[in-house]
Amino acid sequence: MAVGGGIVPGSGGKQYEARVTPFVVIACVVAATGGLIFGYDIGISGGVTSMDEFLLKFFPSVYAKEKNTTGHDSQYCKFENHLLTLFTSSLYLAALIASFFASATTRKFGRKISMTVGGVIFLIGAVLNGAAMNVSMLIIGRILLGVGIGYANQSVPVYLSEMAPPKLRGALNIGFQMAITIGILAASLVNYGTSKMRENGWRISLALAAVPALIMTIGAVFLPDTPNSLIERGQKENARAMLEKIRGTSEVDEEFADLVEASEVSRQVEQPLKTILERKYRPQLVITSLIPFFQQFTGINVIMFYAPVLFKTLGFGDDASLMSAVVTGMVNVLATFVSIFTVDKFGRRVLFLEGGIQMIICQIGVGALVASVFGVSGTGSFSKGTGNLALALICVYVAAFAWSWGPLGWLVPSEIHPLETRSAGQSINVSVNMFFTFIIGQLFLSMLCHLKFGLFFFFGGWVVTMTAFVYFFVPETKNVPIEEMNRVWKSHWFWGKYIPDDAVGLAHHNTTNNA
Ligand code: BGC
Repeated sequence: MAVGGGIVPGSGGKQYEARVTPFVVIACVVAATGGLIFGYDIGISGGVTSMDEFLLKFFPSVYAKEKNTTGHDSQYCKFENHLLTLFTSSLYLAALIASFFASATTRKFGRKISMTVGGVIFLIGAVLNGAAMNVSMLIIGRILLGVGIGYANQSVPVYLSEMAPPKLRGALNIGFQMAITIGILAASLVNYGTSKMRENGWRISLALAAVPALIMTIGAVFLPDTPNSLIERGQKENARAMLEKIRGTSEVDEEFADLVEASEVSRQVEQPLKTILERKYRPQLVITSLIPFFQQFTGINVIMFYAPVLFKTLGFGDDASLMSAVVTGMVNVLATFVSIFTVDKFGRRVLFLEGGIQMIICQIGVGALVASVFGVSGTGSFSKGTGNLALALICVYVAAFAWSWGPLGWLVPSEIHPLETRSAGQSINVSVNMFFTFIIGQLFLSMLCHLKFGLFFFFGGWVVTMTAFVYFFVPETKNVPIEEMNRVWKSHWFWGKYIPDDAVGLAHHNTTNNA
C-alpha cells in the first residue's frame, strides 16, 4: 500500500513486515495529546462562559441580562452576545487560516517542526488566557490556541499515519477522535471543579490547557521525523535507517520502495488543488467537501460548546448545568468505543444511517419538549421531570453522533482518495470542518435567540438531508484497499459515469494489491 501525506487506514492491501515498536507507542501518545488539546478547547469555553465571575469581569452586559431575566423575559436570548461567541469561535477561524501555513511547513520542514511550532504557540495562548486582564487578551489568547491547533491538526494525523504500521492505521484514526472526546470530557470535569472555587476558577480552567500542550511540545522535540518526510526532503539514507528502526526489522525493502515511489508521485502533482477538480475525482471532491459540512450541521457543537449555557437556558441551576455537561461528555467518550468495534464489521453506512435516524428522533423530541415548555415567547421553565427527559434525549443524540458522524466525519474523507489527491483532500476536509465549526460557534446563540425551539428542528432537518445523502451517494468503503477504491465508484449508480473505464482496478502507479 502506498503511503502518502494523509491518513491511510489499513484495510487490506500489502502486508509489510512490522512490529509495534516503542516509536509506534510514542506516536500514539503524541496523537493522544494532539487530540486532547483540541478536545479540551472545544469543551472548556462553554463552562467558562457560564461562570458568573468570568461573565462579570469580561462580559458584564451578558451577566446583567442573565441575572435580570425574570420568568417574564425570553430565556432564548439571555446569552446572545457576539463578543461572547467570538471568544469561542475565533479559535476555529484562526485554526482554519493556520492550517494552510501548516501544510507548507509540514511539507518543507517536516511533521516534527510543525508539531513543535503548534505546541509552543498553543502554550503562549494558554498562558495569555489564564492571565487575561481584558477581553483582548482573552481573544488574542484564543486566536493563538487556534493557530496551535491548526498546526497540530495538520501535522499530528499525518505523523501518525506515517509512523503506524499500515494495519493499525484505521484504529489510530478513530483513536484521534477518541482523544478529542476525552479532551472534551476532561474540560467539563475541570470546569465542574473550578466553578466551585470562589475566585479565579475560570483562570485555572483556561490555563490548564497548557498541560497537554506541554506534553505535546516536549514530545515533538524528542520524536524522530517520519521516513516519508525525510524522503520528501531528500534524505533517503536517513529515511531507510529510520524506517528499519521504527518497524523493528531490516526487512523493509518493499515498504521503502513504495515510500520512495509515493514521494515521486506526489512530487509530480504540482497543483494538487487543481488536480482534484478533474472530472474523474468528482466523487471524492463532493464527498470530501460535504461530509465535514454535514458533520457540523448535525448541531453537535451546540452541545459540545454550549452545553452548560444551553442547560442554563433551559432553566437548570449552575451546578446542574455543569454536571449535565459532564454527563454528555461521558456519553460521548463511551459511545466512541462502539464505532471502534463496529466500523470494520458492520461498515460505515450502517453507522451513518442508524446514527442519523437516532439523532433525528432525539432532535424532534427535544424541540417538541422545549416548544411545549417555553413556546414562542421563551418564558417558563422546565420541571425536574421534563428537564431530565430533555437531558436523556440529548445523551441519546450525543451517543448517536459519537458512533457515526463523529469518527466517520474524519475517517471517510481520509480513505476515499487516491494518492495524488489525498493531501489536497485532507486539507479541504480540515478547512471545511473548521470553517463550519466557526460558523456554528459564532451563530448558535443568536440562532437560539431567533429560531427558538425551531433551532432543534432546523438541525433535525439537516440530519434528514445528510442521512438521505449518505443513503444515495456514499458507497460502503469498509475493507476496500485504497488503491481499489475506483471499483467502488465505478459500480456506483451515480458516480460510475465519472470514472473512466481504464481507471478501474489500476492504481495510478504500479503498486499491486493482493487483498
Ligand atoms: C468534531 C468536533 C466535535 C467532536 C465531538 C469531532 O469529530 O469534528 O467538531 O466537537 O467531534 O466529539
